[in-house]
Amino acid sequence: MKGMFLTLEGVDGAGKSSHLEWLATWFRSHGREVRMTREPGGTPVGEKLREIVLHEPMHAETEALIMFAARLEHIERIIRPALAAGEVVISDRFTDASFAYQCGGRGLPEARLEMLEAWVHADLQPDLTLLFDLPTEIAARRLATARSPDRFEREQADFHARVRATYLRRAERHPERIRVVDGGQGLEAVRAQLLAILESLP
Ligand SMILES: Nc1ncnc2c1ncn2[C@@H]1O[C@H](COP(=O)(O)OP(=O)(O)OP(=O)(O)O)[C@@H](O)[C@H]1O
Ligand SMILES: [Mg+2]
Repeated sequence: MKGMFLTLEGVDGAGKSSHLEWLATWFRSHGREVRMTREPGGTPVGEKLREIVLHEPMHAETEALIMFAARLEHIERIIRPALAAGEVVISDRFTDASFAYQCGGRGLPEARLEMLEAWVHADLQPDLTLLFDLPTEIAARRLATARSPDRFEREQADFHARVRATYLRRAERHPERIRVVDGGQGLEAVRAQLLAILESLP
């Protein structure tokens, strides 16, 4: 069976992690091996870098470089081997998040990240990206009750609005890969949208 690379994207609190397990169960019930993973992180080195990048103050470019360093490790150790073995890899965030947060949120030029993307994974893109989209105020309200905020979650409302807008622009640019899900609906309604997308897969 051919490997499939699926990524989940969206602003903090959009609902990505809430659907990971359900998505994995759907693929398993269709006879697939599933590998669930996340960014930043996914490997021992990546998880250490995650701790640093989510909590230590740093320059925006350092942040971008750490994200891609962690990503290279993730791709070589986890993603490529799993895809080669025919598994479905579901990653909670990937490179779209770097464009949304480091370019949209922090204001780095996209050309910088395009260079890193070409370096780290010129020949690899997700087969499908589910973009959980919703007004950032709703996402923030959900998170406020869920956990204490990291460096990104503590950013101002306009930061999150730019992240959301950048994600949506990317979805317009890559309509064949990125499917936008209305994450503002209740869990069951979001799941129904996901199911419709999964059932439409070739
Ligand atoms: N459709 C929904 N309706 C209501 N609450 C939701 C919905 N989806 C998720 N939540 C709740 O919102 C909070 C954030 O959801 P979740 O952790 O899945 O978001 P996330 O996109 O993974 O966020 P992050 O990027 O910060 O990891 C959780 O408490 C979750 O239970
Ligand atoms: Mg999450």
